[in-house]
Amino acid sequence: MKLVEVLDYEALSLHAAAIIANQVRNKPNSVLGLATGSTPLGCYKELVRQHQEEGLDFSQITTFNLDEYYGLAPNHRNSYRHYMNHYFFNHINIDKKRTHIPSGVPQDLIAECRDYDQRASDIGGMDCQILGLGSTGHIAFNEPSPSFEPFTRLVDLDESTIQANGHYFKIENTIPRQAITVGMRFILNSRAILLLVSSDKKAQALERTLNGTVDPMVPASILQLHPNVTVIADKEALSML
Ligand code: F6R
Repeated sequence: MKLVEVLDYEALSLHAAAIIANQVRNKPNSVLGLATGSTPLGCYKELVRQHQEEGLDFSQITTFNLDEYYGLAPNHRNSYRHYMNHYFFNHINIDKKRTHIPSGVPQDLIAECRDYDQRASDIGGMDCQILGLGSTGHIAFNEPSPSFEPFTRLVDLDESTIQANGHYFKIENTIPRQAITVGMRFILNSRAILLLVSSDKKAQALERTLNGTVDPMVPASILQLHPNVTVIADKEALSML
């Protein structure tokens, strides 16, 4: 894994955005794998700026997100579909028909999961996949477990993940405890992976991801097996290395 050390969150966001912008310019019909959460927000903001001020063109781009809260409809203000529209898609010239996010309210859960993997594989996988890192070591919502799970599926979120994401939810008992997440096959099929890690809350998980053995109890450690991973981490996140 290639490690890029940056000073702070601002530098991380600009570096990540520069890589994505290059990808978009070099291959205008790229397929991008996208994450939600707080970490990629600065990157999306910079990409929006580059679109608005420099004409960065997303008109032929296709995107696939990693996950969605189970039980939240696309128009729910805490759904990841709402997040993506609000922070990114509404501000760039992307064709929303080419933006894929699992449905949080599928009619047929098994079919939805199977279809999501099929759509990603039919298009040939992601050219570039953005990942955040959970403090549990999760990537997408693949939480620590006895084995690496390859496929998209419904998962229970770890208590610490529910707490970490809870501040987005006004009423505590509305916090979803389950999500639909892609599995490791989706992630490892990407041609390039960008793992973005900021803050000391992630320091231990990052240390174990980079230096530990490949272990499903530290899900991100599987990235050691991928030939093209760039980790962009700020000083706080690197404090345990
Ligand atoms: C989000 C996702 C999660 C987050 C992770 C870090 O789509 O798949 O794995 O990337 O929970 O979240 P933040 O960035 O909020 O610390």
